[in-house]
Amino acid sequence: MTALTTKEPDFVSRVINGLLSVKPLAAFAKSRARAMMIQRAQRIGVNWPQRVEQLQGLDWQERFSQVQNPDVTYPAYYQVSFHAYEKGDLSWDAAWEAECAALTVHSTLWGGEDPEGDRKLRDSYHNALSTQLSTPPQNILDLGCSTGMSTFALQDRYPQATVTGLDLSPYFLAVAQYNNEQQQRTVNWKHAPAESTGFSPQSFDLVSSCLMFHELPQAPARAILAEAQRLLRPGGYLALMDMNPRSSVYATMPPYILTLLKSTEPYLDQYFTLDLEQALIEVGFEPPTIIPCTPRHRAVIAKRK
Ligand SMILES: C[S@@+](CC[C@H](N)C(=O)[O-])C[C@H]1O[C@@H](n2cnc3c(N)ncnc32)[C@H](O)[C@@H]1O
Repeated sequence: MTALTTKEPDFVSRVINGLLSVKPLAAFAKSRARAMMIQRAQRIGVNWPQRVEQLQGLDWQERFSQVQNPDVTYPAYYQVSFHAYEKGDLSWDAAWEAECAALTVHSTLWGGEDPEGDRKLRDSYHNALSTQLSTPPQNILDLGCSTGMSTFALQDRYPQATVTGLDLSPYFLAVAQYNNEQQQRTVNWKHAPAESTGFSPQSFDLVSSCLMFHELPQAPARAILAEAQRLLRPGGYLALMDMNPRSSVYATMPPYILTLLKSTEPYLDQYFTLDLEQALIEVGFEPPTIIPCTPRHRAVIAKRK
């Protein structure tokens, strides 16, 4: 973990940071990285341009109004560029490309290019989770659900449960709603900040969150842990799956690659330096169990006292 955050940036990283601060060069680097991602997607059988074109051609207005909560205010930390999308998560481009991007990024988790990488990541998380739960959960909340990939994985694992996906992006939720229709699913969607969900206390027995915490500064991350504690019944579980700061993959990653990664993930340093175990205990969880899911992801599973 220390290798990621306490070292001064090396010469190459400083040069890269300097280059990325020049807008046309940053735009060129992003378009190259994007072209390479799309090529990798094609190699694993994900037809990225075709999928996006198909989604673009749909009428989104109705789904958007169905899911959007007009009373939501967006925190400043959320209204920044993410993953090379200028408007971050608040854009149609990000929403239409989210699934292709996840399938592509996760295809290399175990080395090589595996079209099943994303499924294996989610299976591995659920296998870890099932070692901790004594009874199957009946009411499940998925925080930071995006277009529903993590939510549908929860529903597949616990088909008897009522499952709700919550996200701050109405664009992602509109695509999630489309996926609900296409896959004949029954997930409920909620447009709200995860730090202030509006649900009643003790209304869930499992709160799950996949791949959201690395996108958060520390203050909202702590607020979300406290909100999850409020939402869980006594004995309920909070389960987080995300990048593993202790993974040797990050410790040994060439600094210039890490610099490029951080240029699209604005809060990565804050995530890597957050003492998640301590933060969970401080808001009323038992000490968590941490289980590696992939060479660079972990599940952090904590029981509400
Ligand atoms: C990388 S995506 C993870 C998607 C999904 N859980 C998965 O496993 O594929 C992170 C999601 O967290 C959402 N998010 C970030 N901050 C949030 C917040 N404060 N409240 C609710 N959702 C948030 C983003 O909008 C985005 O959809």
